[in-house]
Amino acid sequence: MKPIRKAIFPVAGLGTRFLPATKAMPKEMLPVVDRPLIQHVVDEAREAGIEHFIFITGRNKAVIEDHFDRQFELELTLKERRKKSDLELLSRDLPEPGTTSFTRQQSPLGLGHAVWCARELVGNEPFALLLPDVLVQHKPGCLAQMMEAYRATKENANIIAVEEVPLDRIQSYGVVGIGKSKGKTFAITEMVEKPTREAAPSNLIITGRYILQPEIFKLLETQQGGAGGEIQITDAMIRLAKAQPFYGLKFEGRSFDCGSKVGFLSANVAYALARDDIAPALREEIKRLLGEK
Ligand code: UTP
Repeated sequence: MKPIRKAIFPVAGLGTRFLPATKAMPKEMLPVVDRPLIQHVVDEAREAGIEHFIFITGRNKAVIEDHFDRQFELELTLKERRKKSDLELLSRDLPEPGTTSFTRQQSPLGLGHAVWCARELVGNEPFALLLPDVLVQHKPGCLAQMMEAYRATKENANIIAVEEVPLDRIQSYGVVGIGKSKGKTFAITEMVEKPTREAAPSNLIITGRYILQPEIFKLLETQQGGAGGEIQITDAMIRLAKAQPFYGLKFEGRSFDCGSKVGFLSANVAYALARDDIAPALREEIKRLLGEK
């Protein structure tokens, strides 16, 4: 069984649901409390043992590359002002030199196309894929749970994180069919993108965390546009599942779809309420706001 060392972070989307906030600023840099979304998912990947971080970027996304680099003037100023804890915070978050790679998607043709753009950087090894607009609040993180499940399969398997949603919201998601259980995972019998309530094989949706084998790249090369005319990763996974084992993992933790406004705002509240330095004041503030309605 090959180990997972690399993770892909697709960050080339247009973020249209957050316009005008995302007109000049990438959606992935929107902060949840005081860390950008992309930093939260990089933290999750690092905790899971990922050694190399691959970002699929596009126009207007250069600030993401800057975020994972030293900010020399800022560091110097903080040093002069003896802001030791701020300096420590910056250096703790900084990836080791040579452990990040950035490539451009050139046109946002869909998530499947974004992943395909990483083929040369990933090479012939399995990899993790994390969508930065999905946050999962739990320790250990969602990817760490998936890595453990991957090792337990003892085979070169593909694993997708799944979670339950109410059936009346099912038509917005990729949905999986459930087969035999294997440890904490279960075999995936089918994957359907945005089914009607009647056609949905279960109430389990694909949640933005994947462990995939490198054979996906060959399939993505010939993948035609699917839902919304975009090259969909799910369509290539459906083809890969015909040749390789595919498992679902019902992860522990609460997920937030930060690509939607309510999901993003909820994530901010939930992550702030988990912080001792902010929670008491925020709780009071929320009470006041709700009382004033
Ligand atoms: P989304 O569909 O949620 O992001 O893709 P989006 O397209 O930016 O957002 P909306 O729908 O217009 O508001 C999930 C992730 O995949 C990336 C996005 O940047 C996001 O992080 N993505 C999507 C790409 O890198 N390339 C694409 O062609 C599409």
